[in-house]
Amino acid sequence: MSDQAARLRQKITGLNSQYHAKTIAIVSGKGGVGKSNIALNFSLALANEGKKVLLFDLDIGMGNIDILLGKSSRYSIINMFENNLSIYDIIESGPNSLSYIAGGSGQDHIFYLDEERVNFFIEQLELLLTKYDYIIFDMGAGVTRETIHYILAVDECMLVTTPELHP
Ligand SMILES: Nc1ncnc2c1ncn2[C@@H]1O[C@H](COP(=O)(O)OP(=O)(O)OP(=O)(O)O)[C@@H](O)[C@H]1O
Ligand SMILES: [Mg+2]
Repeated sequence: MSDQAARLRQKITGLNSQYHAKTIAIVSGKGGVGKSNIALNFSLALANEGKKVLLFDLDIGMGNIDILLGKSSRYSIINMFENNLSIYDIIESGPNSLSYIAGGSGQDHIFYLDEERVNFFIEQLELLLTKYDYIIFDMGAGVTRETIHYILAVDECMLVTTPELHP
């Protein structure tokens, strides 16, 4: 697992001389704290300033970025793996020239990002790094064996919390 994270980090940060996207993951411990809304509004604000932004819904199988946008997506990241599509095939267009990739929902089976899929994902992601100013990852709540790769590899994490009231 640490190998994969290291390799992903190397891919994301290793294009030293070339210009490449700043990568930011929106993360939280608890669910329902507002990550997806912040990810979307932050992405739209950057796009409004003329930045090329890709919002990547990595809450795979529980994605809601397309719902928040009021759009229905043709494809999600799940289709990239299951229908052998390239990452370019699954990029959708939102407002303000925002690009996004839906996380997929309503699956009738549990989707696993196994090692083979992570490797394919890394290759595909690398293709995008020189195409955008920002790539924002909307993550699922908490940390799992799957999401730790991305959290360790991105340039920055934005941790979203809400106050917990004690009686
Ligand atoms: N700033 C806010 N003020 C009040 N309500 C908010 C705010 N941001 C989000 N919400 C509401 O909180 C709920 C959860 O928001 P959101 O889906 O963005 O959270 P999330 O952290 O992405 O959840 P999940 O962990 O399920 O992915 C939604 O009903 C949303 O409308
Ligand atoms: Mg969310």
